[in-house]
Amino acid sequence: MSEPARDMAKCPLHEINAFDPAILQDPYPYFARLRSEAPVYRDPNTGIVSVSTFELITKVNTQPKIISNNFSEQLRSGSTTQIDPDELAILKEGIIVKNTMLTADPPEHTRYRKLGMKAFTYKRVEGMGEYVAQVTNALIDGFAKDGHCEFKSAFAAHLPMTVIADALGVPRADMDRFHQWSEAFVAQLGGIADKAARIDAARKIVEFQKYFIEKIEEKRAKPTEDIISDLVHADLAEEDDPRKMDYSELLSILQQLLVAGNETTAHTLTAGLYYLIGNPDQMAKLKADPSLVPNFVEETLRYLTPTNNMWRVATQDAEIGGVPIKKNDLILLRYGSGNRDDAHFPNADAFDVTRENAKTHLAFGAGIHTCIGSQLARKEMTIAFPILLDRLKNLKLAAGKNSFRYSPNILLRGVLELHIAFDPEKP
Ligand code: HEM
Repeated sequence: MSEPARDMAKCPLHEINAFDPAILQDPYPYFARLRSEAPVYRDPNTGIVSVSTFELITKVNTQPKIISNNFSEQLRSGSTTQIDPDELAILKEGIIVKNTMLTADPPEHTRYRKLGMKAFTYKRVEGMGEYVAQVTNALIDGFAKDGHCEFKSAFAAHLPMTVIADALGVPRADMDRFHQWSEAFVAQLGGIADKAARIDAARKIVEFQKYFIEKIEEKRAKPTEDIISDLVHADLAEEDDPRKMDYSELLSILQQLLVAGNETTAHTLTAGLYYLIGNPDQMAKLKADPSLVPNFVEETLRYLTPTNNMWRVATQDAEIGGVPIKKNDLILLRYGSGNRDDAHFPNADAFDVTRENAKTHLAFGAGIHTCIGSQLARKEMTIAFPILLDRLKNLKLAAGKNSFRYSPNILLRGVLELHIAFDPEKP
């Protein structure tokens, strides 16, 4: 199965609005043109510089000295959105968080990342298999007898959110609120939300902060076995001067842990089923040889690339691939394009569960900001998919129900819903 038609008009690149919902729905024809015509492309309308080949994206990610992740200010003051006074007034009711991991540069980034990584050590994640299987089965129990469901809201959104809520040590009963807060952060990061959406997001972000300040204080007074307790009591060594983190740091780390792994994993779980249903030959291969599951997960990550693009900012005048860039230029690393680059992934537009180099994809980024939750996400998916395929027999798309619409967000990619049908499980 291939994705929707690719007959994008051959108009000059500068006439294309890269934020057009039609491009966000299916960016691949545009990406193909960027790779072949201008792998480093400055859009004259926005000034944003796109980097679109596997090789150049990888190269940029090895140059943290000239390319910064501290893009939040730039996003506000730059060409995509201006911070609105109403939005600012709401955000001021809460706490202006520090740049800690995703939006920080060394040396601060290194210090905070060390603490963040402790949350998901290899050993901790390796021991989570049985627990993830239990959560998976309990979620499937909720719809298996019906013979149909909307997979993203019934399953895919809940597995990662349950896992992160349990790991943080916050009640599963508050899950609906976590979903809303997560969506608010995603809208803010996308950089293209309209005023009403940004105001709504700002309100939810302040709500998130109030909730988590309460949890931080609970765990400061009475530590439990969870990530919030670990972070509250951890020492941040600054110039060999250890100290505890304040709200602006703790909230920044917590918001990243809450947000970074949820939509991304939910979209990948949804895409995995979608691609298998659409490619019966690949489904048959996977069923015949379950040892292919880890590679199928990698191929799904490559093919979807849920973090389809990521921002960077130039810290000085420099060049990328021979193209001059200027200090403060806003750069878009087109991870989704790098993952469809034939020069690195032969026949890149084909979904192939046996692809030999699938795992070299850019879906988790590369360099010093490589995803710290990649092991956790992989564990969730390699455990969940075989259970799903075993319990949901004769899986197909529910006729006439799917819009196949993708989220209209420049950073995050995934279908908004996936209605599926299967043999109802007998009680
Ligand atoms: C399929 C699932 C996931 C995908 C595709 C994904 C993707 C990414 C990507 C592309 C980056 C690098 C961003 C950059 O280039 O600047 C990143 C960073 C990050 N991810 Fe993930 N992620 C996933 C799951 C998770 C999970 C489960 C967590 C934690 C619970 C997580 C936490 C983070 C954090 C904290 C960072 C920032 C790391 C840093 O800047 O040093 N992610 N992720």
